[in-house]
Amino acid sequence: MVEKTFVMIKPDGVTRGLSGEIIHRLERKGLKIVSTKMIQLDEKLAKEHYKEHQGKEFFNSLVEFITTSPSLAMVIEGEDAISVVRTLVGATNPKEAQPGTIRGDFGLKTQNNIVHASDSQDSAKREISLFFDRSEEHTSELQSHSFISYAVFCLKKKNQKKSTQKLYFFSIS
Ligand code: PPS
Repeated sequence: MVEKTFVMIKPDGVTRGLSGEIIHRLERKGLKIVSTKMIQLDEKLAKEHYKEHQGKEFFNSLVEFITTSPSLAMVIEGEDAISVVRTLVGATNPKEAQPGTIRGDFGLKTQNNIVHASDSQDSAKREISLFFDRSEEHTSELQSHSFISYAVFCLKKKNQKKSTQKLYFFSIS
């Protein structure tokens, strides 16, 4: 089933310059970014986002950490995106995360575990609506349709044959 999930590259991932690497891993798996923004969470948003952990001993340090500098928030779409992204991200504690996962390859501490990803359909829905307005939500289907329509349009222009053939090939590869 095609799902949307919420993924956030946390302040440690952004400041270490790992955003490109993380996006590359998601995209080469076949997942699509359908919304994205860089955002520095304020205390209110951080507490709301992590509200299920309120009362745990790490809650305050988690909120402090996530609000220190900007994060990169994204909505990722694809077949079984919620569980597929969680697998790519790896275990919460990077020391226990498998090599080949994002946390397994780049992290050492549970708090600085580089990336957050929704753990269920309910969390995904809640987290997406917390960070993105409806007007900011796109779908990958629309992206492909628009691009293919554009490629077909170009193909019809006889005097641009060479460049359009390349475009058409790219759109279906
Ligand atoms: S729990 O207790 O199992 O529900 O928590 P968990 O799902 O493992 O983790 C939820 C988020 O809390 C962060 N976390 C911590 N931060 C700091 N210190 C400690 N000890 C700690 N334990 C958990 C963890 O990074 C998770 O953040 P997200 O953004 O959800 O990955």
